[in-house]
Amino acid sequence: MTLEAIKWENGKLEILDQILLPAITRYVPVRGVEDGWKVINKMQVRGAPAIAIVGCLSLAVELQNEKLQDKSSLRREIEGKLNYLVSARPTAVNIKIAAEELISLANKLSKDDSITISEMNKKFLEVIDLMLIKDISDNKAIGDYGANEILKKIPDDNLVRVVTHCNTGTLATAGYGTALGVVRSLHKKKRLEQVYCTETRPYNQGARLTAYELVHEKIPGTLICDDMVAALMKSRRISAVVVGADRVAANGDTANKIGTYQIAIVAKHHGVPFYIAAPQTSIDFSISSGEHIPIEERPDREMTHLNDQRIAAAGIQCWNPAFDVTPANLITGIITEVGVYRPEDLIKLQSTS
Ligand code: MRU
Repeated sequence: MTLEAIKWENGKLEILDQILLPAITRYVPVRGVEDGWKVINKMQVRGAPAIAIVGCLSLAVELQNEKLQDKSSLRREIEGKLNYLVSARPTAVNIKIAAEELISLANKLSKDDSITISEMNKKFLEVIDLMLIKDISDNKAIGDYGANEILKKIPDDNLVRVVTHCNTGTLATAGYGTALGVVRSLHKKKRLEQVYCTETRPYNQGARLTAYELVHEKIPGTLICDDMVAALMKSRRISAVVVGADRVAANGDTANKIGTYQIAIVAKHHGVPFYIAAPQTSIDFSISSGEHIPIEERPDREMTHLNDQRIAAAGIQCWNPAFDVTPANLITGIITEVGVYRPEDLIKLQSTS
């Protein structure tokens, strides 16, 4: 059985509720934009590419049942709903970029007199459908570029040990995964000895989701707590770190799950290459550096409770940023679907993306 975070069949959208994993496998229907906003905001679906796809598909659910009036009101509705969806989680840029592209398509089609309103609606649904297919093929390309990059400096037949953080696999994308896609490709090439996945407190994406995917796919994996990375790098030869991204700035500074920055510092100290694996839809060329990336802060309860059980002393104050920014000078390379770029060369992609 293949894991499927997003089910999109015959115009119906369902998402695998990631809050309940790994104990319970339950799909939740998404009947429109309001549901889409809620499942993203509550993190029933999460991971930058999956957020963008589910957001746009929730709009597609509404568009296919839309009582069409005129093209300019359809355009206004598309713009308003997309902007609303973008507000569900502020750091991951993929949904913002997808929304900007769809809004500019809406503007173009609404001005084109040769296109009827139902053709405009149909075109939209086609473009949104393609996002799922493209995400999977982009991830496979990222996987192969990343595996080849990591193996470049490894003698033939030697196996590698890699570290990853958070969840960047099938559950965070339309399929295959970004950083976990690189791990998957290393495993397919029979060159992976072990992937170490961090627990990823406080939401435990590593322990609950990545570990679940690794076990499910029979990929050799070992769980570590977030505070064990330095000890791991000191005591075992680690070939590389590979993590995902929620937003990469034009200079290569990268926002990813909280804890990524400290792993990058530890990797630098131990001379371990540190890679970001992300599609071009995670790169925000409109911002020059990571300073401009909005960092989402989440409810205290994610830290103070595990399920419904309080684990922190009552009355303590909490600070719960969901992401941090790793500066470009700690990043060896950014693995995209069109190749691996040093942070300072990323800008070359601006004109092609
Ligand atoms: O808060 P989350 O679980 O949405 O954060 C996810 C991450 O930080 C991932 O590393 C990132 O979105 C890339 S997923 C391919």
